[in-house]
Amino acid sequence: MQVFREIKALQAYLEIKKCEGATIGLVPTMGALHDGHLSLVKKSIQDNHITVTSIFVNPVQFNNPDDLIRYPGTLEEDLTLLGEVGDHVVFYPEQQEMYADKPVVSMDFGELERRMEGEFRPGHFNGVGIVVAKLLGIAKPHKAYFGQKDLQQFAVIQQLVKDLSYDVELKCMPIIREPDGLALSSRNRRLSPAERKKAPIFYEALKMAEKLYLQGNSIDFIGTEVRNLFDSGEVILEYFEIVDACSLEKIEDTTKKNVAMCIAGYVGEIRLIDNVIIGNEY
Ligand code: PAJ
Repeated sequence: MQVFREIKALQAYLEIKKCEGATIGLVPTMGALHDGHLSLVKKSIQDNHITVTSIFVNPVQFNNPDDLIRYPGTLEEDLTLLGEVGDHVVFYPEQQEMYADKPVVSMDFGELERRMEGEFRPGHFNGVGIVVAKLLGIAKPHKAYFGQKDLQQFAVIQQLVKDLSYDVELKCMPIIREPDGLALSSRNRRLSPAERKKAPIFYEALKMAEKLYLQGNSIDFIGTEVRNLFDSGEVILEYFEIVDACSLEKIEDTTKKNVAMCIAGYVGEIRLIDNVIIGNEY
């Protein structure tokens, strides 16, 4: 495993490898790695000669400064986990290396960022767009791997790649879960034991909603049933939406194919998101 901290050094290394005919896979992460991240890394190692995993907590995408300060930093553990997965390259730049100056460019993904995460985390997708554009520009990978866990993020990145004509194939990988259904997330390690017990309610809500949907119940009815689950107020529901899995537009009728159900909320101070895709998985 090789760790690069400088853009130029990484680029020089990858250029030589590309000239030798190597294909490059990129897995962008913010560290605090878990099996969800590692599933992307493993897939990239399978598909490409060289995999670059980036570890960079991107300040520009945090709309909540407290969330940024508390974002878990576990570099030693991360490198150990990555070392176990197979031979690859880690890009772990300093803040200064990625943002010598505050970026002047800003990105607006239109309707895509007005709902769900975009609505509740203003500016978030601007930050994601900028850092992913930078990482794609730095590594120039043939393929880049993202998780369905952040479905809206994937839609935003697809838009970015399309609009800016990046020559890269994007892969969206399935959500890895705990045995009780809780989607793995770097934020889960901040849950207290009592909060951790409550956290699977998001997945339970999604599974209930999926069942109701497949039984042909109306969108309104499904929404009401989901909100009722959160009535006790112990876990705060921020949004529950039934949307087209690609455009993320709200759907009106229950006969549509390729539908995603997306949910977000707070267990204590920890914000969690989850989704399921009914019918066609990515
Ligand atoms: P981060 O939250 O570290 O996630 C890195 C990648 O892992 C994302 O593509 C995310 O969707 C995926 N992932 C997270 N949890 C997963 C799970 N349970 N199963 C499968 N994949 C999972 O997402 C980001 O970082 C950042 O926004 C980033 C794209 C790196 C830009 O800064």
